[in-house]
Amino acid sequence: MRLLLIGPPGSGKGTQAVRIAEHYGLEHISSGDLLRRHVADGTSIGRAVEQCINQGDLVPDGIVMDILRKPVEAASKRAGYVLDGFPRTVEQAEAAYLVAKSLGASVRIALHLTVSREELIRRLLARGRQAGRTDDTEEVINHRLQVFNESTSPLLDYYARRETLVSVDGDRPVQEVTCSAIAQLDQLCQQFDAGRHR
Ligand code: AP5
Repeated sequence: MRLLLIGPPGSGKGTQAVRIAEHYGLEHISSGDLLRRHVADGTSIGRAVEQCINQGDLVPDGIVMDILRKPVEAASKRAGYVLDGFPRTVEQAEAAYLVAKSLGASVRIALHLTVSREELIRRLLARGRQAGRTDDTEEVINHRLQVFNESTSPLLDYYARRETLVSVDGDRPVQEVTCSAIAQLDQLCQQFDAGRHR
């Protein structure tokens, strides 16, 4: 299975990606985690992207595609993956589609997590106080939400038209969100299987 998690900052993509990946035996691949690791390690990529991340801007597509290629190819040879934070633009989605096609990768589902703006800001400010992530400040959170609305939300229409888009209310306790996501994913997979055997 290839699953893409789409949602605004703080919607729980990372939290749910770990749980869903564990449930289905998939790899969890997070573009944000990979980029932050480069920054922490002080690599040339890290130095190139640090300012974008700190300001809440998107990192150039070419860099993101480069760091994702290897883990995505490796996971495609196994059971598949849950991609968290990628794609973030229609251009990234089109590039990802071509890569997946060339790998002969199967079922792709886009899972959209919906959460109210107030709750997103509450969660991110709380994490900023506890964990000190550099982009969890009020000003940068507002900018990240704006970037999501302008650049990433068009993906919802893109996937609704081309692929299978599932929406889950993420404004609930973590375990409830996970159960609801898995129930919807199981149902979809059954529909795919039934279609294949028809
Ligand atoms: P990225 O790391 O992807 O950050 P994000 O999209 O801003 O998302 P967050 O990690 O803040 O939130 P999340 O939705 O994963 O929620 P989480 O589970 O962590 O990207 C960071 C930056 O990297 C970008 O701004 C950009 O610069 C760059 N980047 C990354 N990918 C890119 C790409 N493809 N192209 C270009 N640039 C890219 O939860 C958040 C908090 O809420 C946590 O404290 C968690 O414990 C809590 N929480 C989660 N679920 C619940 C719940 N149900 N109830 C209560 N609290 C909850």
